[in-house]
Order: sequence, then structure tokens, then C-alpha cells
Amino acid sequence: MKNFSNIIIETIKKVVGKGSHNLHEPLFSGNEIKYLKKTIKTNFVSSIGLFVNKFENKIKKFTKSRYCISVVNCTEALYLSLVASGVKSGDEVLVPSITFVGTANAIVHSAAIPHFVDSEFETLGIDPIKLEKYLQKITVKKGVNYFNKKTKRRISAIIPVHIFGNICKIEKLLKIAKKYNLIVIEDAAEALGSFYKKKHAGTFGLIGCISFNGNKIITTGGGGAIITNNNFLAQKIRHLSTTAKINHKYEYIHDTVGYNLRMPNINAALGCAQMENLNKFLRSKRKLFLKYCSKFSENTNIKIIKNPINSKSNNWLNTIFIENLSAKIKKQILNKAHKNKIYLRPVWRPMHQLSHFRSMPRMNLDQANIIYASCINLPSSSFYF
Ligand SMILES: Cc1ncc(COP(=O)(O)O)c(C=O)c1O
Repeated sequence: MKNFSNIIIETIKKVVGKGSHNLHEPLFSGNEIKYLKKTIKTNFVSSIGLFVNKFENKIKKFTKSRYCISVVNCTEALYLSLVASGVKSGDEVLVPSITFVGTANAIVHSAAIPHFVDSEFETLGIDPIKLEKYLQKITVKKGVNYFNKKTKRRISAIIPVHIFGNICKIEKLLKIAKKYNLIVIEDAAEALGSFYKKKHAGTFGLIGCISFNGNKIITTGGGGAIITNNNFLAQKIRHLSTTAKINHKYEYIHDTVGYNLRMPNINAALGCAQMENLNKFLRSKRKLFLKYCSKFSENTNIKIIKNPINSKSNNWLNTIFIENLSAKIKKQILNKAHKNKIYLRPVWRPMHQLSHFRSMPRMNLDQANIIYASCINLPSSSFYF
């Protein structure tokens, strides 16, 4: 393990070249400025405007989902999805401990309780085998619902997350969700352009949520989208996201407490231009992934996380897994890489290790701890090839 830092830095340089490399940067090489100018010239910069509808249509077409509602970010997309789909205050929502904090925050914002579950090593998503055994042990059925025997709370939903664009074991998770009557909200924040058996991420569950933050495969500056095939939910979410305002020529009438979460037109303009280049970004990212695979294959101690079986990943972030990596060596690798202006990042600190989530229910999370200890993300922008 002595020269690990050098091996990793040199291998990365062979792939992306010398110089400074951020983890993920946006690429604006198309109609971005033209469309932004158009929003300013027409004064339509806020939540009403042609680009919002256009952007939603582009997302619908690409993901083959019936409805799309664009919002200000994916955290709020998850929040609205939880509220609209019937997750109630005090319910428990199953969520992987290995995820971005926004996933767990959205659950708390909706007054539900995150219940942390473990992840597996192939996809870095929820481990369905471990989950099923766990639910069998800890739940009791009352009517159509399943309750946590210990906390007495209803377990009403699950949020499978497609980590770094890798499709999680979604088929198995859907079966478990059906058995335990769980609402499935997919966190596809990182997975625009990822498919499992030719079906797009976020279209397996009741609702899927996508992020267009500046570090994602396409960006709207900040932004998110909710995709679903459920007409009732789509109407409800659209209504809630626009202050629950009843359509009227001039009156302001609202029929419930709504939210102001719609994506502004100026952001959607950026998104429209970015969507025009999505396939180009996907091709570039695929080449980068294959190059990393080939260069890192020369070292048997370092494994690249591959596209899960039957899936085509968007390869949003490339991840290396180093077995038995100590915290000390990991820190050395990250520090040395940063000194060399290669801005590697660890996986997020698992949610159960964050102080404000310590009291939340959880299963045994040994694998999540190993994933956190062993994985490092590599520079993965779309402009290398
Ligand atoms: C897995 C995951 N979930 C949720 C989010 C939240 O998205 P946003 O930043 O658009 O709120 C992100 C990322 O940013 C993410 O990576």
C-alpha cells in the first residue's frame, strides 16, 4: 500500500492528462448563451415561460415517462414526492445510509423518519438480500401496512438511490416493496442517462427524481425533475409546486398550503441547451470510463466499479474500490492528489455516522462502512473525450 497515492495519481494522469482536474465540471458548448439571452430579452425569467415546458418535454421524451414536473432542485423533488405520494408524519422511510445528505434531509423535511439500510458492493445501492431478511425480522403486518415492531411506526416507503449513476438492484427492491406495501420513490439524482434493461432510471417506481445541480451530467444551474406515469400524482405535484393556485385569468385563489418550487424559465433555458448535448456527454463519459477500466486493470488491488449487469450507466462518476484501505492511507491518497491538483473525493460520510441522524433507526450497516472506507471518486467531467 506504500505507493498507492503515486500509482493512483499517475494512472489518473495517463487517462485525463496533466494539469488540474476537478471531480466534475459542467460543459457549456452549445446553445446555452443563446437561450439565456432569449429569456432575458422576452422578460420571461421566472416560473412561467416556454423553456420550462420545452425542458419538461425533453426529459419526458428521453426518459420515456408520461409526466415531468421541473422544480428548483432534487432535494425538493424528493420532498414533494414524499408528501404527494402519501408518506405521513411519523412514518419510517427506508433509505440507504450511503447517499447524499439531501435524500435523508427530504425525508425529515416531510416529517417522516429516515430508516437507514445497508448497501452492496456491485452497484453501491441498497442490498436487497439483507433488506428482505431484515424486514422479515423487524416488521409486523396490520391491515395492509407493515409496522416496525420496535418503534411501532408504519414503514411506508423506500427510496432506492442509483449511486453515481449505477442502477441499483431495482428489480429485487421492487419485489420487496410490493411485498411490504412500500411506496417506491427512486432517487435518480445522479442517473440521467442510465438504463436498466433499456428502461430509464427513475421510471421503475411510482416516482423518480433527477438533479440538475452544477455537478450533474447536465445542469440547469440548480434544478430537479419529478418523473412519473401516474396522472393523479403528476397533477397533484404540479399544483403543490406552484403555490396550489387555481387557474384563473387574474384572481389569486389557492386551495391548500402550496409551495413555490417550480423551476424558473431561465434555468430551464440552460437545461434545454444542455439536453441537446446529453448524448454527446454520455458518449464522452463512456470513453472515459473504459479508459479508466483499462488503465486501472494493470493494478489488481484497485477495482473500478463497473456498470451493473443488464444496465447501461451514464458513468456520472467513476469510482475506485480499494480493498482493506485504512483511513490513514485513504487520507494520504486524497491529500496527495489534492496537492497535485487532482481533486479526488471520498464517498459521502454514511448518513448513520452524521451526528443529527445518530438516533434514527437503522439495520446493521457494515457494508456501508466498508464502502465509505474503500471507495474514491475520480475526475469524471464530460470534456475529456
Ligand atoms: C443521490 C443524490 N440525491 C439527492 C441529491 C440532491 O440534489 P439537489 O442538489 O439537486 O438538491 C443529490 C445531489 O446533489 C444526490 O447526489
